[in-house]
Amino acid sequence: MKITIIGTGYVGLVTGACLAELGNDVLCLDLDANKVAILNNGGIPIHEPGLDVIVASNRANGRLKFTTDIEQSVAHGDIQFIAVGTPPDEDGSADLQYVLAAAKNIGKYMHGFKVVIDKSTVPVGTAEKVSKTIASELQQRKLDTASFSVISNPEFLKEGAAVEDFMRPDRIVIGSDNDALGLKAKAVMKQLYAPFNRNRERTYWMDVRSAEFTKYAANAMLATRISFMNELANLADRVGVDIEAVRHGIGSDPRIGHSFLYAGCGYGGSCFPKDVQALERTAREYDQDLLILRAVESVNDHQKQVLGKKVVARFGADLTGLHFALWGLAFKPNTDDMRAASSRVLLQELVSRGATIAVHDPVAMDEARRVLALDFAATPDQLAQIHYVKHPMDALDNADALLIVTEWKAYRSPEFSQLKAKLKNPIIFDGRNLFDPIDMADAGIEYHGIGRSV
Ligand code: NAD
Ligand code: UGA
Repeated sequence: MKITIIGTGYVGLVTGACLAELGNDVLCLDLDANKVAILNNGGIPIHEPGLDVIVASNRANGRLKFTTDIEQSVAHGDIQFIAVGTPPDEDGSADLQYVLAAAKNIGKYMHGFKVVIDKSTVPVGTAEKVSKTIASELQQRKLDTASFSVISNPEFLKEGAAVEDFMRPDRIVIGSDNDALGLKAKAVMKQLYAPFNRNRERTYWMDVRSAEFTKYAANAMLATRISFMNELANLADRVGVDIEAVRHGIGSDPRIGHSFLYAGCGYGGSCFPKDVQALERTAREYDQDLLILRAVESVNDHQKQVLGKKVVARFGADLTGLHFALWGLAFKPNTDDMRAASSRVLLQELVSRGATIAVHDPVAMDEARRVLALDFAATPDQLAQIHYVKHPMDALDNADALLIVTEWKAYRSPEFSQLKAKLKNPIIFDGRNLFDPIDMADAGIEYHGIGRSV
């Protein structure tokens, strides 16, 4: 099938590469000429395990191409995926300017029947806006407006496991209209996703608005679980309970399940924070106050400050002259994505109190340099308090404590005797609960986890 992907970011690039891998002829469009040049030169603009291999092999066999040419890209695909960003507006609602700009371009250049797929995470009612935008362009061109149908097909992949998630989806959600054009589009979608449904039907067919809502409901549910566990962990710290034991104890109930129950220093990334906000905003538009989601968001804002607060409780409010090691900058392991990462909140807190910090991340250091330069644009002196080191153990030299923000595998089993020898004080503040407090006590390390004050 001939497919165009509009927006070649995390979702667009993974979608394009995986659909090419399945034998489709894919053209990916992006307005960012630099990104397209990197891809056309054989590079990958993001760190995502396994993506480089399938991008390279499908470029080589000619099934995957990249362009900045809008007209050519609209002409290419009978299927047009919209996978552009939907960042938060000033009021927290999803900013649809990129989605509607993509829709406008489709209407401006399309000929013949097109299936237009909203892959971006968009609020209820967006498919109707995309339809109207395309139709209005077609009207201006005096072309038949009954020549396309908009499908909602939200994406559920996780960064760091994106290729695996896309290739082995636990479900495919497709919202379509029930008119003649909708049914025609539905048949195209059936054919497109047939390879995923061979052993077991994974597609959930529904109306467009319900599909749009399903995406927000899924992210909001997951964010709620995390904030709930974080709140319990904070209480566990006060009452002398190990939240990790509790996690096992409740997760073994199949009605609860083990996933997404890890307490920590808050959820980050491009999606949970913005999608929780956007759903709250949608509710407000319809005169409903989503009380739970407001609490989820505020617990998370608080949780991103928890490590900083523990450091202040231990060392005092003035951290001048103190030096810390920080392991992990990305918002989660296996990605270089720094969007809404907890490390950014912690670094602000520590440097504004006068500390210096040696930081390490296996892949996110370049991205960290870029985003931290923006975070500290008004206070360049504070930016100079952050030093980057190439090896995690190098960060420990003379540090008053080690802080862990991202649970990279490389941090899970350090040589504790070496770690103790390098640190000035054998103290760990662990934002991801990597170690057992009893082992730490045995090793003579003062350990501050999240909800692990047994
Ligand atoms: P991203 O910022 O990485 O990529 C978006 C890309 O779209 C950018 O490269 C940008 O240059 C390009 N773009 C913007 N306007 C364009 C236009 N008119 N034409 C062509 N290209 C254009 O974003 P992302 O993380 O891939 O997210 C995309 C959407 O998918 C969002 O709605 C997000 O919520 C959703 N989503 C993201 C993930 C994830 O893990 N990142 C997972 C599921 C869903
Ligand atoms: C999340 C969802 O998991 C995907 O299904 C969804 O498609 C995506 O958002 C999206 O809409 O963009 P992602 O943000 O890539 O994926 O990463 P997650 O693995 O969900 O982690 C998000 C954040 O939650 C991370 O900061 C992680 O550290 C934190 N987290 C996760 C916890 O604090 N505890 C947990 O138990 C799980």
